[in-house]
Amino acid sequence: MEVEAEEIFKEFKQHSISEFFKKNRQMLGYSGMVRSLVTVVHEYVTNSLDACEEAGILPDISVGITETGENRYSVKVSDNGPGIPKEYVGRALATILAGTKFHRYVQQRGQQGIGAAGCTLFSQITTGKPIQVKTFPRGKKRAYSCSIALDTMNNKPIVTDYAETDEAFNGLEITGEFGGVKYEKGERGVYEYLRRTALSNPHIQMKFVGPDGEEKIFVRAVDTVPERPKPTRPHPLGLAVNDLIEFAKASKSRKLSVFLMETFSRVSQGKVEELRKIAKEVDLEKSPDKITWDDSERLIKAFKEVRWISPDPTSMVTIGEDQIGVALKNILAPEFMHITARKPAIFRGGIPFVVEAAVAFGGYAGRKVDEGYEGNIMRFANRVPLMFDSGSCAITEAVKGIQWKRYGVDMDSQPITVFVNVSSVHIPYSGVGKESISPEEEIVNEIKLAVMESARGVQRYVSGKKMANSETSRYKMVMGYANQLASDLSTLTKVDREKIKGMLEVLVSKHYPKAKGSREEEVGEAKEEEG
Ligand SMILES: Nc1ncnc2c1ncn2[C@@H]1O[C@H](COP(=O)(O)OP(=O)(O)O)[C@@H](O)[C@H]1O
Ligand SMILES: [Mg+2]
Repeated sequence: MEVEAEEIFKEFKQHSISEFFKKNRQMLGYSGMVRSLVTVVHEYVTNSLDACEEAGILPDISVGITETGENRYSVKVSDNGPGIPKEYVGRALATILAGTKFHRYVQQRGQQGIGAAGCTLFSQITTGKPIQVKTFPRGKKRAYSCSIALDTMNNKPIVTDYAETDEAFNGLEITGEFGGVKYEKGERGVYEYLRRTALSNPHIQMKFVGPDGEEKIFVRAVDTVPERPKPTRPHPLGLAVNDLIEFAKASKSRKLSVFLMETFSRVSQGKVEELRKIAKEVDLEKSPDKITWDDSERLIKAFKEVRWISPDPTSMVTIGEDQIGVALKNILAPEFMHITARKPAIFRGGIPFVVEAAVAFGGYAGRKVDEGYEGNIMRFANRVPLMFDSGSCAITEAVKGIQWKRYGVDMDSQPITVFVNVSSVHIPYSGVGKESISPEEEIVNEIKLAVMESARGVQRYVSGKKMANSETSRYKMVMGYANQLASDLSTLTKVDREKIKGMLEVLVSKHYPKAKGSREEEVGEAKEEEG
């Protein structure tokens, strides 16, 4: 029997975005028990950091995890940030695709307005419980608390148990209970995530209490709130045909030429004249909303032929060489480290990014394995630790592509940590989980250059160390003193310098029978070691 269209379409329905993520939770990072718990902590901690930095407050964060059942944990994250006003709290924490950061073209950790509501949804579908919120919004007179759940059918918040309190408290505190999760202290667990967050954010103070009751305080290493990145305008080279049309339709500028200058970065009057010559068919005097698909295509093509000046670096905030140094010392206490900060570069023709890298040796660097050590890579994007999907990441690809043996460094047996942070308004994440950076050629190259420079620094140190430990080197060092002594004694006693030197040489050689060599080389090596 044939079925009519009407009949089939009786089933036609529209779903809400919450319903979609309920069925596709892995897209939000909720896959695997250990990873899911890290995702919850990551969402809350990055929100706290974004909020504190926006409010100009030095972040003081506390994370507590307790076990409440089998594969079931309660997570509490509190901060000293600006808090959330009552009228926004429901939507901020229980409406997917709602937030304060969505339409900004600025370097921030959060962007889409998915994280916090995703946690609420995850708590709800794994334990049936709402999240508990306590907040004292800055500028308001009292703190309040409430419970928040998500009406998934309508992607709307359900706020209950509202109560005001006089409790002395600042910022925001969220407590949620989650099922199908697991706490582990390993390489991919919450503890490691927080340790790396402290490493890339030396300005934060953070307390962690784990399910085993163990308490760890990550001490603030620098006392300044990072500079706020400036919102930037998109660069013409980062646009696709459709993007340009959308921007043009939304524009209030009178002419296409003015629109281009007002909307995008690096478009000057001079550049407009160049574009006019290249894209002759496009009338730049007409109203932007009259733009056609052909116009846009021609302009996008013309953008690629114009010579642009380098991107504006003020849109990017890096960690900074000094701060990386302080943080690495604080957390890894390495024997030696070398830090490299590259200049801003661009990928996909117009999107600016900056790479910072460090190679640390000894101390808590690297990873302890049965008999000894091996090297590890710590990946960061805009200061956020990337813990998963390392295989498909630009950072992994760059670091693995380096011929470490050339630098006398062995990633398989030495206590080495390679640290890489990529900063950009638009990090090209390879998946929705935002756990790896897509291996764009320019990004991989910049990372390679940065890490190689630091590898050379470590090479100088390691080879210097080998020298110092060898008998030859000790012999040479003592002979250095002996030469000086010979000269001094000769001046005092008028005995021939070479004669005294010869006698001392015999004496010293008895102690280091296997050593030989010349003094000049040693000085050269010693100098290298300092640098
Ligand atoms: N700790 C916090 N302090 C103040 N505001 C917060 C905090 N956490 C979340 N918010 C607000 O809730 C919004 C939604 O958060 P989220 O869903 O994680 O999206 P995003 O971080 O991408 O904006 C944020 O944009 C912010 O306005
Ligand atoms: Mg967020």
